[in-house]
This record gives sequence, structure tokens and C-alpha cells, in this order.
Amino acid sequence: MQQVNIGLIGGGTVGSGVYRALQMNSELMASRLGVKLNLVKVAVKAFDEPRPYPIPEACMTTDWRSVVEDPQVHVVAELAGGTTVARTMVLAALKLGKPVVTANKALLSAHGEELFEAAQQQGVNLYYEASVAGGIPIIKALREGFVGNRITQLYGIVNGTCNYILTRMKLEGADFAEVLKDAQRLGYAEAEPSLDVDGHDSAHKIGILASLAHGFWVHPDHIHVEGIRSLSRTDIQFASQLGFTIKLLGIIKKFPGGTGGGNGSKVQVSVYPALIPSTHVLANVNQVFNAVFVRGDVVGDTLFYGRGAGKDATASAVLSDFADAALDLKFGTKRRVPPFVPHELAGSVLSIDDTASRYYVRLGVVDRPGVLAKIAAIFGEGNIGISSMIQPEGHEGDVVPLILMTHEAPNSAVRQALARINELPVNKAVPVLIRLETLE
Ligand code: NDP
Ligand code: HSE
Repeated sequence: MQQVNIGLIGGGTVGSGVYRALQMNSELMASRLGVKLNLVKVAVKAFDEPRPYPIPEACMTTDWRSVVEDPQVHVVAELAGGTTVARTMVLAALKLGKPVVTANKALLSAHGEELFEAAQQQGVNLYYEASVAGGIPIIKALREGFVGNRITQLYGIVNGTCNYILTRMKLEGADFAEVLKDAQRLGYAEAEPSLDVDGHDSAHKIGILASLAHGFWVHPDHIHVEGIRSLSRTDIQFASQLGFTIKLLGIIKKFPGGTGGGNGSKVQVSVYPALIPSTHVLANVNQVFNAVFVRGDVVGDTLFYGRGAGKDATASAVLSDFADAALDLKFGTKRRVPPFVPHELAGSVLSIDDTASRYYVRLGVVDRPGVLAKIAAIFGEGNIGISSMIQPEGHEGDVVPLILMTHEAPNSAVRQALARINELPVNKAVPVLIRLETLE
């Protein structure tokens, strides 16, 4: 049987998960693929770091170049993380004509265009199933399964750490900081957790999905990103009373029309916490689980659900890429369905100010006659319709929360109205603004 030798760079959460998964299932994969996957080397920074699963020292090295340059290694997996040395690692492997597997969404977000171009020039593939939504095979689904569709909408819960935090804040009334510590202990959070809680990790992933779905490279600077750090239990509870659940969503929506003619589409690519109907299936995606809801013009609505982080789920995606790489090597395939090509004329990302939503607004105002009229007037002047309002009875103190739900309104109009409200002497707290996504 043909043998494909694999070298890993990284033996941490994901790398050690891959090591163990290959030990468990490489025989099974060999029987399915007709190719034996053989792990020959693992590069780490230090042999004595604690690892979720042990890796024998005999196959470890602290020199990643010795993995990339080893003529015995046919496929290189970059599981180290970061965007600087990781870029050098991937480019070095591609330059040697070796297929590369990566789980590194930050790297693809920052340098994807360059890396995919390098892979194309070398006539090899860069595989990245593990970079988005861990164990969910969403890259393969978009790239191959939906190749006959225009993707009109995609909503993703793609950060396990944030979903874990929001779930526990909702179900247990738990404290943000305490739950974040648990997510770090369980290996869900990035080494730098602000990547998770400030929405950047979701933006990396949603940018990769948007580029794949719409055929033009989505630059990370064009993605509007808001995280969950400022969300409070109060908002989670009020949202719940109104029949909504707050989730951090990655959102890709295609709008008709061209950019300067042709077929180029305008696409909203954003990450923000959103109220979604508690009856919707996405509202019931809890804990560290991820889900990606994809609407295609032929297929209709589809939903993918699974673990988006952690050593085993991510290892499953890496193994799937190893299988593709092994079969490509076996059959001499140069390219699968290409990752980013202008299958539509180049599109562009819509500015957040050109999008419209319904909104949840929480104000902290003085409880005095005429206050509500002042606020309603500002919304009215901005042509923003109010669909419902709550001022809870029995609130102690001079400042009361006022919760308003709006009809659909342009982002820019709502932003301007809130800036005006913030200036009112009767306003005593920074207004909280959360978009509502009906998912229709
Ligand atoms: P870890 O920090 O757990 O592991 C990183 C590994 O890379 C460690 O083994 C480290 O060595 C090694 N390493 C780092 N720099 C070098 C270097 N210069 N030379 C050799 N080895 C090096 O990270 P994760 O496993 O969590 O993440 C890896 C990648 O996978 C990241 O890109 C991450 O975003 C992505 N990812 C992570 C998921 C998760 O759930 N954790 C899910 C999906 C993707 P040492 O062990 O000695 O420190
Ligand atoms: N920190 C990421 C998350 C890991 O929480 O989803 C998976 O990419």
C-alpha cells in the first residue's frame, strides 16, 4: 500500500489531538483510502511542555525546518498558530512543492491571498478545513457540496469560547470573567483570549467563508467586528423576556447589484452580537458548539452543527485534509475546486453604515415626565420606528432602564440618533445597541 508521510509543526492542543487521532484511526483511514498515513515528525518549541495527549520524544524536534525540509515528509501540517513564523513555515513548505494543511484562521485571514497564490504557483494544495468551525466540514461543504449554488445568506456561530460564555451567562447568570477562565482551562480559547471575546477570531473565520462563498478575497479590514465584552446579564435577561437569545454571529449576506456595473455583488460581511428569535434552531446551539446556517439559491436552507474547538473535533478536520492530500498525491491531482476565483465578477464588501437592521436599545435615563417624549422625538426625526418598549416597574434609584425595539432602520441613522440621546442631560448611561437578526 502507498504510504504518505506527514510532518506536524505544533504538538499542542490541536497537534497532540492529531497525533492521537492518527494513532486511533490511521488503519481505518488506510482501509478507506488505500493510502497509509504515517506521522514521522512533530516540531514543538520545547519537549517538556505539558500536552493534552503525550507525544513520544523520539519523533519530536524543536527545529520546524527539519520537518519541512525532510525529504521523507510528503505533507506538512502547520498547527503552531500565529501569523509571522507560521507564514514562513507555510511558504517554505509550499516552495518545496509540499501540500500544506493548516488550522490557522488568523494566518489565512492575514495572508491567505498570498498563501493561496503561492500554492497555485507551486501546483500544490493548501488545505484548511480545521480553520473554520473545528470539526464541522463547512469548507468542504461550501467548496464542493454547494458548488452549484449562489450563497445568499450565511449565519455562523463560529467561536466556541464566546458561545460557551454567552450560554453560561444566560443559563446560569454566570459572570463573564469567571466563564472565560473555564474556557481557557478547557482549551477552547485562543492563547490571547481577546481574539475570541472581541470578535476577531470569528472575523477571521467569517472572512474565510465569505471569500469561499463569493469568490473574491475579503480583506479583514473590510469586516465590521463587534465582540461580546460589553454584553451584560441585564441585556441577556431583557432579550429573553422579549423572546430573543443573544448570540455572537458571523454574518454574510449577498445583496443584488454590481459595483460599477457587471455582475459584481455587494456582500455584507460582519461579526456582532445579535438578538435572534429564541425559537430559531441557532438560538439553541449552546456551550462550545458551533453552527453554520447556509442558504443557497438552489438548495434552500441548510444547517451544520458540531464542536467548533478543542483537540479532538479539530483533529477530525485535520485528518480529513490529510485524506484529501493523500488522495491528491496518490492520483496526481493538482487542484480540487479552487478556493478563490472570480466565479462572479469581483464583488465588494458593503460598509456597515449601508446596512439596515432592527435594533434593541437599552438606555439608562432619569425617571421624569417628558423624558420618553424627548427620546421618541429623536428617533422620529431619524425616521426610526419604535416597535415596542419596556420600562420595568419597581426599579429602585433615580435612573431607570428603558428598553426600545426598533423597526428596520439604517445603521447610520440609529448611530446618529443614539449619539444625540447620549448628549441629553436626562441620559445617565452609555446607550447599549444590539442588532436583531430575524434570520428570514
Ligand atoms: P497550542 O498553543 O496548544 O499549540 C501550539 C504548538 O505549536 C505547541 O506545540 C508549540 O510548542 C508549537 N510551536 C509554536 N511555535 C513553534 C515554533 N516556532 N516551532 C515549533 N513549534 C512551535 O495551540 P493550539 O493547538 O490550540 O492551536 C494551533 C492552531 O490551531 C492555531 O492556529 C489555532 O488558532 C488553531 N485552532 C485551534 C483550535 C483549538 O480548539 N485549540 C481549534 C481550531 C483551530 P510547545 O508545545 O513546545 O509550546
Ligand atoms: N478559540 C476558538 C474558539 C478555537 O473558541 O472557537 C477554535 O477556532
